[in-house]
Amino acid sequence: MSSVTDSILRRVSSPKLCSPGPARSEVLKIVECATRAPDHGRLKPWKFVVVQGEGLEALGALFEKSLLSSTPEASEAKKTKTRSMPLRAPLIIVAIAKVTAEHKVPVIEQVAATAAAIQNMQLAAIDLGYGAMWRTGGMAYSEVVRAHFDLEAEDQIVGYLYLGTPVGEPKEIKPQEMSECVEFWDK
Ligand SMILES: Cc1cc2nc3c(=O)[nH]c(=O)nc-3n(C[C@H](O)[C@H](O)[C@H](O)COP(=O)(O)O)c2cc1C
Repeated sequence: MSSVTDSILRRVSSPKLCSPGPARSEVLKIVECATRAPDHGRLKPWKFVVVQGEGLEALGALFEKSLLSSTPEASEAKKTKTRSMPLRAPLIIVAIAKVTAEHKVPVIEQVAATAAAIQNMQLAAIDLGYGAMWRTGGMAYSEVVRAHFDLEAEDQIVGYLYLGTPVGEPKEIKPQEMSECVEFWDK
């Protein structure tokens, strides 16, 4: 088994992440890996916004603004929790599908390419010794957040990839039974 296969089989998400996160040169390597995702029509239908330092607080403020636009009566606790969400890691890559609508490559395939790019980044980050967690939640679909990132109607925030140093031991994953998800057509 190649080391790539072995790493994929051992991959787990890391919900708890602390500093240090990847350095700028490592982030660029991670994003370079994103751009090697399979991409129908070579449309490069993605944009990556790297958020760190004070940018994480700015993202938290944006999340709180989004919360207040839908729930003006939100409690202080909810506001604090929402504002703190980006502080769960030292660095976040916001992966956006900037799609070409009305193209022969359907929008869903452009979003799928961006999803593949995120997974490339997750694997690259782990290979560089970091932990990662792909998150979405309401803040991936919020109109306030979408407007901030200047998204057109069919563009998508496909994921917030949280990156940093894992805290604690990786969880054990029970492998899925192959018979649950695979069938062979070979008769
Ligand atoms: C598109 C997408 C969105 C996700 N959003 C969240 C999320 O918002 N919150 C969360 O706890 N997990 C989310 N996950 C799942 C985690 O990234 C992770 O895969 C899951 O917790 C299982 O852990 P594992 O990756 O170690 O198997 C998302 C996964 C995908 C593919």
